[in-house]
Amino acid sequence: MIPTSLRDIADVVDGQLDGVNDPATMVLRVCSDTRDVVPGSLFVALAGTRVDGHDFADAATRAGSVAVLGTRPTAAPTIVVPDVLAALGKLARFHVDRLTETTVIAITGSVGKTTAKDLVASVLETVGTTVSPPGSFNNELGLPLTVLSADLETRFLVLEMGARGPGHIGYLCSIAPPDVGVELVVGSAHLSEFGSRSAIADAKAELVRALPPGGTAVLNADDALVAEMSSATAAKVTWFGSGAAAHVRSDDLTFDHWDRARFTLHSPDGTARVELQYVGAQAVPNALAAAAVGWSLGVPTDAIAVALSSALPRSRWRMEVTERSDGLTVINDAYNASPESVRAALKSLKQIAGDRRSWAVLGEMRELGDSSAAEHDAIGRLVVRLDVQRLVVVGEGARPMHLAAGLEGSWGRESMFVPDVEGALRILRAEVRPDDVVLVKASRAAGLEAVAAELLGGNFP
Ligand SMILES: Nc1ncnc2c1ncn2[C@@H]1O[C@H](COP(=O)(O)OP(=O)(O)O)[C@@H](O)[C@H]1O
Ligand SMILES: [Mg+2]
Repeated sequence: MIPTSLRDIADVVDGQLDGVNDPATMVLRVCSDTRDVVPGSLFVALAGTRVDGHDFADAATRAGSVAVLGTRPTAAPTIVVPDVLAALGKLARFHVDRLTETTVIAITGSVGKTTAKDLVASVLETVGTTVSPPGSFNNELGLPLTVLSADLETRFLVLEMGARGPGHIGYLCSIAPPDVGVELVVGSAHLSEFGSRSAIADAKAELVRALPPGGTAVLNADDALVAEMSSATAAKVTWFGSGAAAHVRSDDLTFDHWDRARFTLHSPDGTARVELQYVGAQAVPNALAAAAVGWSLGVPTDAIAVALSSALPRSRWRMEVTERSDGLTVINDAYNASPESVRAALKSLKQIAGDRRSWAVLGEMRELGDSSAAEHDAIGRLVVRLDVQRLVVVGEGARPMHLAAGLEGSWGRESMFVPDVEGALRILRAEVRPDDVVLVKASRAAGLEAVAAELLGGNFP
């Protein structure tokens, strides 16, 4: 960040200085985890349900922090505010307003945000200093922290914006007003909070509404609800997609033995071949979105293609394919699960397995509200229709998949229900063979990454 004094920060966030001897002390970095504290840090104390950051003021001081941002005085010099996250948002806004040479790119959508964010960063890094968050820093905490990690050298600031309800994206846009806004897809993630897909579309559209007339909306021409957003923005539109009408599009799409896409990238400036390192057809729209951002910001088409082709997945547990030395292939996609991403992952499973035996170890897709049973039912049927040989359904919330697989015609041990990860491991330990391909996928909270870890740890026949 741009070094800023405690006095200035207190002014910006309307805070009171408590126990501060020298208000001119400079803050060089802002973080909320004591492990990230370096000398000169401002430590953001968050009061969680299990731990209270204020109790770590001492530890932060020992690691070199110069002050704490909290809701009450602590053992260390503290800027006291009524609401830490609101204060952090104000500070981030103050900071980004000083970054006059920085282009802010914000990405939203029901799925693919993190993948697209990583790919956008890969493309933009080829032409200028780029800051983008690790993993999914996409909320009212991670986003301002990411903004504050940029400095005057930062040419591009790439942000992921997530929403659990109306107004969330609008709020994130008020913290970091975007110059470029990317809308990937409108799906059913967090349907329970929103109520309907059109309510989700409305919330996602807050991003394009926040764009200035001189900005760029990067829209997915293949998603009807995203396409409608072109009328909601003052910015010019760059379309990406598979059809000829899109500015940036793919053509001649094929897949290699690991289901990685190969295609010809077209932009108004030219054509180039792309060979993605990411697994699955679902990576293609995310890559096209990244290409569209690059093209809008003047990156040459062949440079975009080279960047996309060499970009390795940066964020964990998203379609991580690993082949054990004995041949067993594990697809770890245990980071998250929505109906869209489970369908995509199942197709990759079949593509990668070819003639080999395929397993789908699936846990609950959370936050689907009233449509939960129907969505799990549909996945159970798809597993059978795709002829995935073994389905292991993990956890009560996912049980409708198992029931549906039975109704769709699976028999005997083709589909099995287990209550927990241990149950899944028992079946896998007993029955997995080196020639098999195993997909592991669920919402993060289901803990299925432990299944993948154990499979790869080699405690298997
Ligand atoms: N367009 C898409 N359609 C279906 N699944 C997708 C799409 N983009 C990404 N995915 C899958 O969704 C999961 C989450 O991807 P991620 O990039 O982390 O999305 P987000 O940040 O929006 O949660 C992964 O399994 C990924 O392969
Ligand atoms: Mg994410």
